[in-house]
Amino acid sequence: MSRNKTLIMIKPTAVRKGFIGPIMAKINEGGFKIHAMKYTQLTLEQARAFYAVHKDRPFYGELTEFMSSGPIVAAILVKDNAVESWRNYIGATNPAEAAEGTIRKLYGTSLGENAVHGSDSDDNAEIEGSFFFSATERF
Ligand code: CMP
Repeated sequence: MSRNKTLIMIKPTAVRKGFIGPIMAKINEGGFKIHAMKYTQLTLEQARAFYAVHKDRPFYGELTEFMSSGPIVAAILVKDNAVESWRNYIGATNPAEAAEGTIRKLYGTSLGENAVHGSDSDDNAEIEGSFFFSATERF
């Protein structure tokens, strides 16, 4: 995946609370275009694989159980400098520290349940995009 794409997820709590619509509106307002998108639920095994980079962190168990606890929306978004642009747009990892108006401030509740995910590098955007989407699911 090139510099203009990032992989995002709307996390289970945000889905459960009915925030898919408002978050999609923010995605649109922010000028991000949809390259691929699906509504799905990760198994615990899939969540462990997706977040394998964090496997030695103390929150790995809590994170992977949470991420497999209900449906999510996964999407590849397109914009110039997409990884950094999305990370700035959603705000700090901890919603309590996120700037006013950001997605995590508006729709997140805690460090773990922080409404949305975003890839942290172009390389990881490529890996994470391929985790969810085949070539025929990208437009
Ligand atoms: P995300 O962008 O999905 O990438 C990794 C996730 O780990 C991060 O958002 C947070 O939701 C979660 N995370 C990071 N630090 C902690 C922590 N100390 N406790 C629980 N979850 C965390």
